[in-house]
Amino acid sequence: MKTENEVKIQQEYMEKVKHMNDKSLKYTIVTMGCQLNENDSEKLCGMLEKMGYSKTQNQQEADLALFNTCCVRENAEDKLFGKLGELKRLKEQKGIIIAIGGCMMQEKHITNKIKESYPFVDILFGTHTLHKFPEDLYKVLQEKRKREDIIDIDGKIYEGLPIKRNSNKKASVTIMNGCNNFCSYCIVPYVRGRERSRQPRDIINEVKELAMQGYQEITLLGQNVNSYLKVERQKGIPFEEYEGIHSFATLLQAINKIDGIQRIRFVSPHPKDFTEDVIEAIAKCNKVCKLVHLPLQSGNTKVLKEMNRKYTKEHYLALVEKMKATIPNLTLSTDIIVGFPGETEEEFQDTLDVVKKVKFEQVYMFIYSRRVGTPGDKMENQVPEEIKHKRFNQLKTLVESQIEENNQKYVGTIQKVLVEGESKNNPNLLSGRTDSNKVVIFEGSKDLIGKIIELKIISQHMWYLKGEKDGKTK
Ligand code: SAH
Ligand code: SF4
Ligand code: F3S
Repeated sequence: MKTENEVKIQQEYMEKVKHMNDKSLKYTIVTMGCQLNENDSEKLCGMLEKMGYSKTQNQQEADLALFNTCCVRENAEDKLFGKLGELKRLKEQKGIIIAIGGCMMQEKHITNKIKESYPFVDILFGTHTLHKFPEDLYKVLQEKRKREDIIDIDGKIYEGLPIKRNSNKKASVTIMNGCNNFCSYCIVPYVRGRERSRQPRDIINEVKELAMQGYQEITLLGQNVNSYLKVERQKGIPFEEYEGIHSFATLLQAINKIDGIQRIRFVSPHPKDFTEDVIEAIAKCNKVCKLVHLPLQSGNTKVLKEMNRKYTKEHYLALVEKMKATIPNLTLSTDIIVGFPGETEEEFQDTLDVVKKVKFEQVYMFIYSRRVGTPGDKMENQVPEEIKHKRFNQLKTLVESQIEENNQKYVGTIQKVLVEGESKNNPNLLSGRTDSNKVVIFEGSKDLIGKIIELKIISQHMWYLKGEKDGKTK
């Protein structure tokens, strides 16, 4: 069946649920994991609101509790099971509908555990069946039976689902699903399937629509954004070349031309696919932020090989040099895993060495977590917990000292800041972000919200900068 027809069927289910529910109903949603999951949740919220539900933060008054899960590290599992324990009473008292979707549901051992230990859950759905949530909900409400809607084949790309975005200034746009890289620690390729890219025309139309609605910043999302359309090109899978788009570089160039959009970000690229055309496109496109997230994972060539990352320490450093030489004012952020199986003290020192050399703007640090079904889990030389923690703390100390040093460089400079809203900790102050994604807190009138303004940075604090308006608004 054509995807448009499948979407149409779901739209009919949305109407049916809306008519079934005569009173106004409420839902809660908990989203775990990455920005792709956040974007999926925005679609789930869009569908729920079309079905007559409205969002609440108060679990007690909710008629439906939805979880969009992640399984990239172990702690997400503990969080889900804890929440389900809490919900049991609400289920017994008022028959709240409980639905769980997302990456964790693609793991058999997890769904088995839920069915055994939390049999009161109503709907289980996976990453390839998200668009069918209206049908699943309708059937649960109508037939008063539980539903499990999980498939293990790559889901298609469904355009035209409703969406309820979290912000009215910044929007995420998923450009591709899945991952083909099979890094040996990572569960994502198993739960999200193979890489498949959205059609250029659909992405451009979505961004144009966002610009018309007044969105200023967009973030392009994928597990490996710089291999956008790569599989399609290599395997001869047909796609429509629209506005000259046939790769990630040409996509950036096309989006850069869309009036109204002021900032373009993207996560995550893979170092192995960081081709020259992508570097040049970042340099050339004035709206593309000069903060690039470039996941390192480890700074040691042997560990990188074991991780199946397909680059060496030297390749990574050379890539950084090349990018810095081509892209003026480039800053970098990264992801690092400590304690991958077999990682020795000496090999860990290579990671610290790369961190010292590159001086990242931001480092997302993770302790290696064994994932069932990945090659890493089967490796015999697992690193003991206390060593992993020791290395994590060592890395954290280094990163924090670098961030402080780096923040100091901002003091006295003028930065372009997109004003996002009131500061969370003090509603009398405003909060925004620089091109390099640093939070800036400053005093100003609320009509600046949504604008890009110039601020003078007057002081630095570990996680934010303080700014001062100098009168000019751009
Ligand atoms: N596709 C992206 C992000 C994947 S998940 C990328 O390749 O960069 C986000 C981050 O979680 C990864 O970059 C990695 O640093 C971390 N991660 C993935 N699997 C992990 C595991 N088993 N243990 C600890 N961290 C992990
Ligand atoms: Fe996981 Fe590697 Fe794919 Fe990223 S590129 S999602 S780390 S397998
Ligand atoms: Fe987690 Fe799935 Fe994202 S496993 S990190 S939510 S793709």
